Amino acid sequence: MSLPNDVVIAIDGYSSCGKSTFARAIAGKYHLTYIDTGAMYRAVTLFALRNNFIGANFFNVERLIEMLSKIHIEFVKNEDTGKEETFLNGENVEEAIRDLHVASYVSQVSAVKEVRTKMVELQRKMGEKGGVVLDGRDIGTVVFPNAHIKIFMTADPKIRAQRRLNELLAKGEKAAFDEVYQNLLQRDHYDTTREESPLVKAEDAYILDNSFMTPQQQMEWFDNLVLKIFGKP
Ligand code: DC
Repeated sequence: MSLPNDVVIAIDGYSSCGKSTFARAIAGKYHLTYIDTGAMYRAVTLFALRNNFIGANFFNVERLIEMLSKIHIEFVKNEDTGKEETFLNGENVEEAIRDLHVASYVSQVSAVKEVRTKMVELQRKMGEKGGVVLDGRDIGTVVFPNAHIKIFMTADPKIRAQRRLNELLAKGEKAAFDEVYQNLLQRDHYDTTREESPLVKAEDAYILDNSFMTPQQQMEWFDNLVLKIFGKP
């Protein structure tokens, strides 16, 4: 089974639904480029934290907006693992952007209109030739409203929190279920209620609830969707 060369696959959904794992698996199987748009917002957040534009009780939005032109984000393939990694102004920040500290501030940063405008522009550029799978919150609604395949992923919040906790513990980070669960509920709330491009299902997106699905079952679901949309090769 193959996809058109210029295919654009948009995967949106809640935090910690396994969007990136699923998107990576699709990219691997169908020889597409994976674009992790959440990583881009996380990189901007890391930049804001490091420069003291945001912290526990403050957010200097104006300074962040002023400095946006100084933020350069790119993905570079790690030749050993074959995985794309996130670079912020030439520095590999793939690990740094995944910790809970960045996660606690990323919703506020990604709600800023100017930040979104810049990221959307970059995402469109990265995906303009097609052959891409992107995951995020607004891919099927804003970034690529004409994507060939749109998927909206969801799963039970407690199951999502447990998966996220397992990931953090596996990396050796200290975290408790409740902290992770609260962070996730807070992000769901922010993501779905913010003014700028809130997380909503595109009308023509297919819903995938993977609460009780294995990665293999998800891939079977996707293969069937490809058959349904493009027919037999
Ligand atoms: O997918 P993730 O958890 O890495 O995303 C991090 C944050 O970035 C999430 O809280 C919402 C935001 N985000 C967004 O607003 N739009 C996107 N396209 C991707 C992520």
